[in-house]
Amino acid sequence: MDFHAHILPGADHGSPNLDHSLRQLNCAAESGIKTIVAAPHYYTSDGIAIRDFAEMRAAAADTLERHSDTCINIVQAAEVYLSHETAELELLPLLCVGNTDYILIEMPYGVWDSGIFDALLSVASARRLKPIIAHVDRYSPDRLQKLLTFGFTLQVNAEAVCRRLSRKRLIPYIKSGDISLLGSDVHDNPEYSYLRFTRAAALLGDDITAMTEKASAILGIQHPA
Ligand SMILES: [Fe+2]
Repeated sequence: MDFHAHILPGADHGSPNLDHSLRQLNCAAESGIKTIVAAPHYYTSDGIAIRDFAEMRAAAADTLERHSDTCINIVQAAEVYLSHETAELELLPLLCVGNTDYILIEMPYGVWDSGIFDALLSVASARRLKPIIAHVDRYSPDRLQKLLTFGFTLQVNAEAVCRRLSRKRLIPYIKSGDISLLGSDVHDNPEYSYLRFTRAAALLGDDITAMTEKASAILGIQHPA
């Protein structure tokens, strides 16, 4: 199960066209992946209405599914860049992962001020959604500690599990279940990304089973895939 991927053709900078998306899917299939959470970037600053984004995403997913000869299940989602306004977006639930109330959130690149944490908490409390924080491996120990205080679901990229130093830092959180989802975050080099995903899964040993079960539980899939 790949819980974070940019595979929808033309939906963001992850895949420029159908050929690239099919290449991504074939690489994923070779890695034994059966379900992919397709999470094109959503930036409020782009000025794209969520309704339009969702329609574009659905059309891209439909095109990909019609042309793919893999059996991979594609779950439509978004990687929502957190801003002070995110919690106020009326159609925010359309950006959730599939039919769930989980929403994949990308923390801002710059300063995390109190307003950003208020926005994150409002997504959960005022909007009653369940944030999943994307690629927490990118954040400093201090920032990771801060994120842990909220008790939200945390996702890690396979690449970080493969790098020795970051693996050493992250493994305790994976073993404790604080970091519970694995993603490829695949963009322009699917061969490399899915080799890394396979390698990460091997390095995680029994922990990958727990991560797959967690992902399956979120998606309501009965048999972990
Ligand atoms: Fe991403």
